[in-house]
Amino acid sequence: MKFSKKHSNISPSLTLAISAKTKKMKEEGINVISFSVGEPDFSTPENIRNSATKIIQKGNIGYTVASGMPELKKAICNKLIKDNNIAYTLDEIVVSNGAKHSLYNIFQAICNPGDEIILSVPYWVSYPELIKMADAIPVFVDCKEDHDFKYDVNTLETYITDKTKAIILNSPSNPTGSVYTLEELKKIAEIAIKHEIIIVADEIYEKLIYDEEKHISIASLNEKIKDLTIVVNGLSKGYAMTGWRIGYTASNKEIAKIMSNIQSHATSNPNTIAQYAGIEALNGDQASVEYMKEEFDRRRKAMVKKINEIQGLSCKMPKGAFYVMVNISQIIGKEFKKIKIEGSMDFANYLLDRAHVAVIPGIAFGNDHYIRLSYATSLENIIEGLRRIEKSID
Ligand SMILES: Cc1ncc(COP(=O)(O)O)c(C=O)c1O
Repeated sequence: MKFSKKHSNISPSLTLAISAKTKKMKEEGINVISFSVGEPDFSTPENIRNSATKIIQKGNIGYTVASGMPELKKAICNKLIKDNNIAYTLDEIVVSNGAKHSLYNIFQAICNPGDEIILSVPYWVSYPELIKMADAIPVFVDCKEDHDFKYDVNTLETYITDKTKAIILNSPSNPTGSVYTLEELKKIAEIAIKHEIIIVADEIYEKLIYDEEKHISIASLNEKIKDLTIVVNGLSKGYAMTGWRIGYTASNKEIAKIMSNIQSHATSNPNTIAQYAGIEALNGDQASVEYMKEEFDRRRKAMVKKINEIQGLSCKMPKGAFYVMVNISQIIGKEFKKIKIEGSMDFANYLLDRAHVAVIPGIAFGNDHYIRLSYATSLENIIEGLRRIEKSID
């Protein structure tokens, strides 16, 4: 029997494969320290959980408008004004089942077969597959560590062809933690306006940004770039709400309408209880967001310091999100305990099997010379996990 050619070629998420192997080892009683997780290790704040419980007790949990409840859209519009200085109307907002679902809707809504979407390497694992699912072509831009893994705004334009539909801008970034500056954003906006290209601005890690860095949404620069930008955001990372599945987009009305129509047939509305919880997350007390950020910051500094003390490993201080890209160039080609490390997958498997530490191989993000470590785990785990890594490559 022949199934969908397009979808049969979609690769499973490599990050999920490592998580599954880790889970299996843990079930077998092995004490694995996981640096592979892509979600906060905190509970969803109590005020948010309580708001959901209240709605469940009331019992009135029906369908909502497919693109999201007006009260939640209002809370999102208020947030976009307050945090990002961008004014949107309710019909420009589409709430979905997580930012991943928002991104799926986006590429389905904007792409025709053969359209090109520009993205930076290392990239978040799902971008290339989401693009391919929309019959479009990912155009990879190699971004170097000494350039903070960001687009070089002086050469970005050379990747544009008459097929280019959009540029993905993920700031702060998963997996690199890099953050674009105002100057860089201005230059990217100029290019997008000149060539009439959409910017898909994935800002899901907006709340997790450290030191003096400031998150700037490219849509806030001027009306022209606002019209070309689809802002993607959600509650998963900043509010520790990964399982609730609430993400959203802010875009011009035309794109919002297409995405809303797609969603109305694919999933109807996002979960109603989670939408009520989303209103509380955005309108309620923000103290827990600040607390989690401070905790992540402490771990970030401890992890980076220790990694750079380990012979053969190095990393830069990430500016946002909760990941560190560790350069393993000096490890590749070496042999440990008679096991040859040819690339990041070999090293990730070696660390899992021999040190009982789970990491994500850089190949999952398009660069085999790195592994990604998540610091969404306790300080004790960070210290012990890195001790095990150091010992295993001694
Ligand atoms: C860069 C980036 N965008 C989007 C998402 C999707 O988040 P969610 O679907 O949980 O809202 C993730 C999750 O890992 C991510 O890292």
